[in-house]
Amino acid sequence: MCGIVGYIGGKDAYPILIKGLKRLEYRGYDSAGVALLNGSLNVYKKKGKVNDLVDFIDDSNVKGSLGIGHTRWATHGVPDDINAHPHLSGSERLVIIHNGIIENYAPIKLWLQTQGHEFKSETDTEVLVHLIEKMQKDGDLLIEEAVRLALSKVVGAYAIVVIDRMDPDKMVAARKSSPLVVGIGEDEFFIASDATPIVEYTNQVVYLDDNEIAVLSRKEGLKVLNMENEIKTPLVHEVDMKIEAIEKGGYDYFMHKEIYEQPKTIDDCMRGRLNAQEGWARLGGLEQYKKRICNADRIIIVACGTSWHAGLIAEYLIEDLARIPVEVEYASEFRYRNPIISERDVVLAISQSGETADTLAALELAKKHGALTYGICNVVGSSIARITDAGSYIHAGPEIGVASTKAFTGQVTLLSLMALVIAHERGTISTSRYQELITELGQIPRKVEEALTCDERVREVSERVKNATNALYLGRGYNFPVALEGALKLKEISYIHAEGYPAAEMKHGPIALIDENMPVIVIATNQSAHEKIVSNVQEVKARKGRVIAIVNKGDNIMKDIADMVIEIPSTLEPFTPLISVIPMQLLSYHIAVMRECNVDQPRNLAKSVTVE
Ligand code: M6R
Repeated sequence: MCGIVGYIGGKDAYPILIKGLKRLEYRGYDSAGVALLNGSLNVYKKKGKVNDLVDFIDDSNVKGSLGIGHTRWATHGVPDDINAHPHLSGSERLVIIHNGIIENYAPIKLWLQTQGHEFKSETDTEVLVHLIEKMQKDGDLLIEEAVRLALSKVVGAYAIVVIDRMDPDKMVAARKSSPLVVGIGEDEFFIASDATPIVEYTNQVVYLDDNEIAVLSRKEGLKVLNMENEIKTPLVHEVDMKIEAIEKGGYDYFMHKEIYEQPKTIDDCMRGRLNAQEGWARLGGLEQYKKRICNADRIIIVACGTSWHAGLIAEYLIEDLARIPVEVEYASEFRYRNPIISERDVVLAISQSGETADTLAALELAKKHGALTYGICNVVGSSIARITDAGSYIHAGPEIGVASTKAFTGQVTLLSLMALVIAHERGTISTSRYQELITELGQIPRKVEEALTCDERVREVSERVKNATNALYLGRGYNFPVALEGALKLKEISYIHAEGYPAAEMKHGPIALIDENMPVIVIATNQSAHEKIVSNVQEVKARKGRVIAIVNKGDNIMKDIADMVIEIPSTLEPFTPLISVIPMQLLSYHIAVMRECNVDQPRNLAKSVTVE
């Protein structure tokens, strides 16, 4: 959370910073700010979105070829102009932007106050820049040395960039548990929370590691140090990200674009990993540890939010097909409950961003206990991808909408491939079943495309339920996690309270909520439980609930009972989530648009949750 961008070179920094902040706005949008150095140090910051900042700056002095910018997701201190970043040091010589939390800021602040420091904001960040200044002043230090010393005194997570007005040819950055990418151009450097603000200018990047400090200097180039002051050799990567992938491309919202990208992103996820004609599936990331994974006592999945829902589907897939026991854990709970983890366990972390703090911490715990760790991430070069023993990318491309859509189907596709590879290796499914599943998985991109044609029908349904205050989502088996995902999507972008339940559980409590005002969205595409789902729908109807049924094309039984029906193409049961989630995504999208909510930037949320 919080987006960071910086530039040093020969160009005007301001337009680069503003464009970068707009690209990073998905990481937080409580406030935005920039600092520009051009003889004088000019800081502008404003509560609200990047556009509010631009309006506020208007025609003020934005000259300077060195600058930093920040878009905030508030942790310490309310979202207002004062708490917005950048923050100045006491003498206004230094300026900082920060993503993360300084956990021991309170005692440091008290100590600094005894030394005469006065603070303007409620933030932990301002405390850090004062501490850096104190170190610099007391030791007469270069800015990079002061940053290193100050960071050795703090506990917490951070990605920071600091400018020193008296040292105008450099900027200093550092990271611990929060991502930072350095872009290397011709006589210029960029720094950002991810590569999206950089790719327009250069594809040469360095991903900083934890506890590294980068000095980006006009005179001396890029220097990377560790906390022990040892020089590290930066590893330059080539990023492969297209500009179109981070623009709306004619859609009103990124979320709508990303929903429509799914036939392609699922195809991309399977490229080189599945050949339906030749009848095989393989996963490069799995090869090295295949034996260990196939012989694991248990697979423990750690994830949060939508990625946790993908993990629940993996539990069905892996237990059903590969017959290995699976446990799915909220990463945040797992790490604090003293879990039993052995060297014979495999811990699978699922994360779109690859930066989720709770998932990272759960992985660290798993590593400490000797489990093999495997990461399933979207963002290339992300922290989870780098700290795990092995892993696979889902290749969904940048997901900008805060509500996850294409990453979810990418994760489920990858997990389907994984279940197939393990099942085949372990011999837990017959060759004919393996072939049948492979052929069908190869058909999924086309079927998702067909499912997307329900968009207009979903819009009509949305019109009829948009004013609801509560909604219930029901599903069974493979589609129970899809019910949870549908409810989460509705909650996060349209602010309607929604709950997902296993359809048969409804009668153990939630049925008490049902009346004529309660839309009940039922996923009824599982062949094996169809009759049981029909009975569940009858139970809802008997209590005057309004049923919206998601059904396979040609399901006439449900048409006669449900109030509204949305038809989608059928598939084999293990892959039904990949199709049934499409109307869930569209329903939340249309309702949010109709309620005039900000679809891509829902209130209080951020895309990448890098605080615990
Ligand atoms: O980047 P991650 O997949 O680790 O993120 C996990 C959750 O924060 C994320 O899925 C969140 O629930 C989304 N906003 C859901 O749409």
